[in-house]
Amino acid sequence: MIRLALALGAALAAAPVLAQGVAPSDPADYPDAPGREEAVAFCGACHSFRIVAQQRLTRAQWDESMKWMVQRHNMPELDKEDMDLILGYIEKAFPAAPAGGRPGWRTPFAPQR
Ligand code: HEC
Repeated sequence: MIRLALALGAALAAAPVLAQGVAPSDPADYPDAPGREEAVAFCGACHSFRIVAQQRLTRAQWDESMKWMVQRHNMPELDKEDMDLILGYIEKAFPAAPAGGRPGWRTPFAPQR
C-alpha cells in the first residue's frame, strides 16, 4: 500500500506532461468492488479510466499489457500485491469479452460459404 502511494505520486508527477487536459476520472462512475479507488486513481492518472474499462481483456492479456505500459509509457511499476488489487478489480468489474467477440457475429471479411 505504501508503495502504491509512492507510485501514484510518481504517476501524478508524470501525468501533466503526458495528459494535458485529461479530466480526472471519478471512481463513482465505475462498478463498486474492492480496489476501485486505487485502480481509478492510479490508472486514471495519465489517461481517462474509460480506456481501461472498455478493453475487456483477460487477466493474462492484462499482465502483458502492464509490461508494455511500464516499458513503453513509463508507468511506475507496482509490487505484486498492488498489481493484484488493481488488476483484480479491473478483471471483476469489466469481464473479458468471450473469445471470438459477440456470439453469432462473423467478420464480413471471412470467406463466404
Ligand atoms: C505514467 C502514465 C500512465 C499510467 C500510470 C498508466 N498508463 Fe496506460 N497509458 C499511458 C499512455 C501514455 C498511453 C498511450 C496514450 C493514450 O492512449 O492515451 C496509455 C494507454 C493505455 C491503454 C490503451 C492501449 C491501447 O491499445 O489503446 C490501456 C488499456 C492502458 N493504458 C491501461 C492502463 C492501466 C490498466 C493502468 C493502471 C494499472 C495504466 N494504463 C496506467 C500512460 C499511463
